[in-house]
Amino acid sequence: MEGLRAAGLAAEAIIIPPGEGSKTLAQAGELYDLMLRAGIDRGSVVVALGGGVVTDLGGFAAATYMRGIPWIAVSTTLLGQVDASVGGKTGVDHPQCKNLIGAFHQPSAVLADVSTLATLPDEELRTGLAEVVKHAVIRDAALFEMLERDAARILAREPAVLEDVVARNVRIKAAVVMADERESDLRRILNYGHTIGHAIESLAMESGDRKMTHGRAVALGMVAEADIAVRRGLVGRAVADRQRNLLARFGLPVRADAAMDVSRCLDLMRHDKKAEAGRLRLVLPESIGAVRVVADVTDDEICIALGTI
Ligand SMILES: NC(=O)c1ccc[n+]([C@@H]2O[C@H](COP(=O)([O-])OP(=O)(O)OC[C@H]3O[C@@H](n4cnc5c(N)ncnc54)[C@H](O)[C@@H]3O)[C@@H](O)[C@H]2O)c1
Ligand SMILES: [Zn+2]
Repeated sequence: MEGLRAAGLAAEAIIIPPGEGSKTLAQAGELYDLMLRAGIDRGSVVVALGGGVVTDLGGFAAATYMRGIPWIAVSTTLLGQVDASVGGKTGVDHPQCKNLIGAFHQPSAVLADVSTLATLPDEELRTGLAEVVKHAVIRDAALFEMLERDAARILAREPAVLEDVVARNVRIKAAVVMADERESDLRRILNYGHTIGHAIESLAMESGDRKMTHGRAVALGMVAEADIAVRRGLVGRAVADRQRNLLARFGLPVRADAAMDVSRCLDLMRHDKKAEAGRLRLVLPESIGAVRVVADVTDDEICIALGTI
């Protein structure tokens, strides 16, 4: 704020409560009221400073206020820097469906300063690292090797290493999204680990398990999806093991809870599938750095993977 004012720019701060609970239409409505009161118009810029919740909500407010005004994303979480701030998806949750209401609205600029990550809770760092491993497995074997080599330095949050990690990940996500902004075939590869991961996350939410973060669920999703690929002979067991070892080094889970209700998990996946017009597509690794989208995975294959990982 001081910096903006010192540069001669009039600025108003709007602070929202932390957490996914703020990603609502009601919160967006409050933002519109405050923006109107502050005299924000088409000549103004929204600066969304925070994690993915703030950039999704702030970007959505910018996309819809006066039919769209410019915005800048300033991400302060690892997940925000490597994922949420890249690609132009903005939005809020509906009580029955996450990210149901939204718009594509590219930010005019994205800033990622890794020094903000110094204060990030460990669990939030881990959530970002799950997406980082995902990017490496789907597109970049050299990044995967770097993560294996520098895992300790990443966990120690060495700024130079984090900067390299963020830059490489932004490039991967940006390249995929630029080739395919509106989510057809190529963008789907970003869902690696997420088809099964989302179901695990929803299942945990239903049973009140608050420890199952998005990153933890995605890690388990990647382990399960890699296991399916191994059983199909798409990839060797050694590749799945390397992925499992890296996830474990980052403190992410690699074994499903033996008490997990696998059939309920499948129900939740079918529910997602309906939302996606019928076909359950899974992204399966073929090697470190390359994946394939398959549409013929059976319930049995998913059950076996979830039951044995
Ligand atoms: N638009 C997209 O393409 C996209 C992609 C992935 C995820 N998302 C969305 O991103 C959201 C999750 O984002 P997130 O993981 O950043 O969560 P978040 O925004 O809720 O931030 C996590 C927590 O960290 C705190 N925090 C933020 N920066 C901090 C810092 N520097 N130091 C200490 N604490 C800090 C926040 O207040 C919050 O409590 C979800 O709503 C998800 O749907 C969007
Ligand atoms: Zn994710």
